[in-house]
Amino acid sequence: MAAKLKIVYSVEPDAAGLARRAAQYFAEKCAGAAAAHGRVRVAISGGSTPKATFGLLADPGQPWRAQMPWDKLDLWWVDERSVPPDNADSNYRMTREAMLDKVPLKPEQIHRMEGELDPTEAAARYEMELRNGFGLRDQELPRFDLLQLGMGPDGHTASLFPHTAALHETNQLVTANHVETVKDSWRVTLTQPVINNAADVFFLIGGQDKAEILKEVLLGTVDRERLPSQMIAPASGILTLLLDKAAAALLPANGEGGMGTIERI
Ligand code: 6PG
Repeated sequence: MAAKLKIVYSVEPDAAGLARRAAQYFAEKCAGAAAAHGRVRVAISGGSTPKATFGLLADPGQPWRAQMPWDKLDLWWVDERSVPPDNADSNYRMTREAMLDKVPLKPEQIHRMEGELDPTEAAARYEMELRNGFGLRDQELPRFDLLQLGMGPDGHTASLFPHTAALHETNQLVTANHVETVKDSWRVTLTQPVINNAADVFFLIGGQDKAEILKEVLLGTVDRERLPSQMIAPASGILTLLLDKAAAALLPANGEGGMGTIERI
């Protein structure tokens, strides 16, 4: 029987408050990891929610830029769309515009998924880069110090979409995934074992369009094929959610749920 997952969540009043909370979370966790072992390896998601947070991390007028251990940081991606890096749908482009162009990361610290390539080739190349970057042997999994996820209104996370092949990929570290329901597109994504092996996994979720799905994922029956976000159960036993009031509107203060013990912090 798997150990009970402890889900802790905080609720900010609005989108701006959520972005600030997430910037603080990034800065605290990254500074802590860098202090503890001299470097910090972070994997980030794309979509729209993280953009405001990335902007705050890059903003010299905000406290978090100075707190971030940029010189000790390696930045990786959780997933990418199979598009070139200058495409409007590119997670890399979003991150570059919001943050990378404004912070002192060297090119070798930025590990981009090559969306411009055939997705299977891009996945294989990223897997090789992970193996090299983390010095992995055989079946070893990379352990990110911090891994940020989002959640789609269909319950997907990373590019683990409902009823897609990537949900069942547990041998590869990175896989290509065909997503018929989203522009019949291809994606490249970290697989569930890699995500769950991270030392600290947190969801960043905001907006009223996520309230229903968040309630279903956390409190509904477990159906990982239909609600892939339910696959996220970090080895640490703790899953953190940073939410805004709109997204958390249907959650209880505390209580048992489909995914585990839920506790508001
Ligand atoms: C992506 C993301 C994806 C995202 C969710 C939520 O490539 O789109 O990695 O998993 O986190 O779709 O996206 P929003 O933040 O835009 O709601």
